[in-house]
Amino acid sequence: MTSHQALRRRQAPTAAGPAGTTTAGSGQLAIFGGAPAVTAPRQHTAWPVVTDADRAAVLAALDGPLVSDTDGGTPVSALERRWAQRCGTEYCVATSNGTTALSLCLAALEIGPGDEVIVPALSFIASGLAPLHQMAVPVFADVDPVYFNIDPAAVAAAITPYTAAIMPVHLHGQPADMDAIGAIARAHGLAVIEDAAQAQGACYHGQPAGSLGDMAAFSLQVSKNLPTCGEGGLITTSDTGLADRARRSRQFGEVIEPGAERDYVSHHLGWNAKLSSVQAAFTLSQLDRFDDYTARRNAAVAAFLGRLTALPGLTVPTAAPGTSHAWHILRFRLDPAAAGLDGVSPARFRDVLRRLLRAEGVPVSRYQLMPLPDQRVFTERDGFGRGYPWAAGDPRDSAGCPVARAIIDDSLTIQKRHLNPAAHDTLQQYADGFEKVWRHLDVAGQLAGAQR
Ligand SMILES: Cc1ncc(COP(=O)(O)O)c(C=O)c1O
Repeated sequence: MTSHQALRRRQAPTAAGPAGTTTAGSGQLAIFGGAPAVTAPRQHTAWPVVTDADRAAVLAALDGPLVSDTDGGTPVSALERRWAQRCGTEYCVATSNGTTALSLCLAALEIGPGDEVIVPALSFIASGLAPLHQMAVPVFADVDPVYFNIDPAAVAAAITPYTAAIMPVHLHGQPADMDAIGAIARAHGLAVIEDAAQAQGACYHGQPAGSLGDMAAFSLQVSKNLPTCGEGGLITTSDTGLADRARRSRQFGEVIEPGAERDYVSHHLGWNAKLSSVQAAFTLSQLDRFDDYTARRNAAVAAFLGRLTALPGLTVPTAAPGTSHAWHILRFRLDPAAAGLDGVSPARFRDVLRRLLRAEGVPVSRYQLMPLPDQRVFTERDGFGRGYPWAAGDPRDSAGCPVARAIIDDSLTIQKRHLNPAAHDTLQQYADGFEKVWRHLDVAGQLAGAQR
């Protein structure tokens, strides 16, 4: 029997809930037939928000040059200029998606066969795949339990003579501990590539994400805080040579000079990783509203999290001192013992809360079901005919990443729904849902098999 079947069976006896629990009245849990806490219309949490201005921008792009070569006059060039300016970097290179942005950063830094790249054990799969795309080997370092980002001590412990770069991820929009990472990188002569896919607009001691390492990669994938209408990516750097190399790598290794005829000479290894004009036009239009959306999100998220801090056994996300969080994903850690439920495992507590909260209309979900080193691609090494680069070094996780494992076991997230600038009232209803479920922790305990 699966855990879901077991839960269904446990709740089966009556529509009013398990025997001996108080679920009647207006506060009755929705899973037992009560009115759900969340009644707000779904459009208040739709993402991305597409306006007539976005539609007009896309239509105008269709009437302009459709080639993606950045000749200085296309929406792609305009987006690159504006994003570099926002990030306080000299250059921005637009790419087909965030994964290619990461890969081209590594390529520009000439990281390749024989090199190791230290990445966090908790991230989206692309952070681990990008080094492999360059035939380098990802080495996984554990994360910190509060901000979920790569732990500088684990980075230091993972360094070998083959380490070429550190790739901190600003996970969920929280900038990583860049001072500590920068110090380690300088001490060992390593490159730093920010995976800022989830962190558009985040700041670290007043400096924008994207300006904190040698190079940075952003994703414009449709769920991101600054989206395109599909897939896209942005690289930022202030190094002329790295920007040039990334730009050439994006276009078959060719040099594209604004105003000059294309000569079709490939100077070094390259790919076709360009961003389309239409996608750039959409993002440019979104960028006009980015600051307004960010301010409204910050206020709505602060009001939402402020209501949840009092709930026992629930740790709400916070921004690290000196940073501004982009609040791309909200991750909540759950502690059954602190909630008064002894003998319940964090994973069981999480699963029960997930069912109860979702029934109330609070769309909590899991984000990442395993640490990166447990992903089959790394354990089975299926790729490149299982030969090089796997043979050169293990994608390894020498310390077992216990913190990443604990976080994955004991947390739930809210994704996307809080990004809409009109989400404030819905988030307040999510808080109602959390508070309601917390008033019924005895039910959660019974469903989870707590010892009483
Ligand atoms: C942390 C992180 N890195 C890289 C990527 C890859 O970006 P893309 O999906 O645009 O390729 C993502 C996408 O979600 C991400 O979350």
